[in-house]
Amino acid sequence: MLAMNKKNFLGTVCAAVAFAAVVSSCGDKTTRSTGLEFSRNMYDPIAFNPDQPNENFDNKITAQTPPTGSNPVGFDRFEYENSLAGYELASKEVKNPLIVNAQNLEHGKALFTTYCAVCHGPEGKGDGPITQDRQLTTEQGTRKLENFPTPPSYARSDASNSSRGGLMADLTTGKIYHTIYYGHNSMGSHASQMSPEERWKVVMYVHELQKK
Ligand code: HEC
Repeated sequence: MLAMNKKNFLGTVCAAVAFAAVVSSCGDKTTRSTGLEFSRNMYDPIAFNPDQPNENFDNKITAQTPPTGSNPVGFDRFEYENSLAGYELASKEVKNPLIVNAQNLEHGKALFTTYCAVCHGPEGKGDGPITQDRQLTTEQGTRKLENFPTPPSYARSDASNSSRGGLMADLTTGKIYHTIYYGHNSMGSHASQMSPEERWKVVMYVHELQKK
């Protein structure tokens, strides 16, 4: 040992480890054994897997159905149905749970620019880029793209009407939230794109655009 220098010693250790790894990983070609298994409990965890049978429950399954009325963490219920009656009821009852401040408005503006401005336009005037004449040039040539229907402007100065009655500038918090949640005619639902908190911030920002 003393006669061995450091390099030789390290070399011998590496060779021994490599030899052991090769020997333990090689099968004898007759079985499908994986050989030595390291940390078997990583394959068989102590906790139940959701798809495993489970004697602890009457129905013997691990993945139990949550009790009726339970909410997933971070999930807010919106108890208004997707109908004109639901829209009007939301208009009467729903209040924005967030306070109006510069930070919320700024975030609302960023979200509006990301998710809504493509149709509604950056100022909510209904002149988003996909409502305007555009053309696409490819190897096949240039073709005109179809224009998306123009949404009515939110701005009071434009005095546009909502297709559900009343001025766009008079749309209430509940009506705007209901529209984001369910969509309306050619506007799809945006509930999956934004968390409830983000939707409230967008509603807050739309109220700012209504003042213009
Ligand atoms: C794909 C285009 C498109 C996008 C994206 C879009 N909208 Fe709309 N939106 C429309 C159109 C078109 C209308 C008019 C629908 C109608 O009245 O038939 C509309 C109408 C509305 C109305 C009026 C509803 C009413 O009761 O009259 C609100 C409020 C609204 N959108 C908010 C939003 C918000 C907030 C976003 C972003 C989260 C958004 N929209 C994203 C196209 C879009």
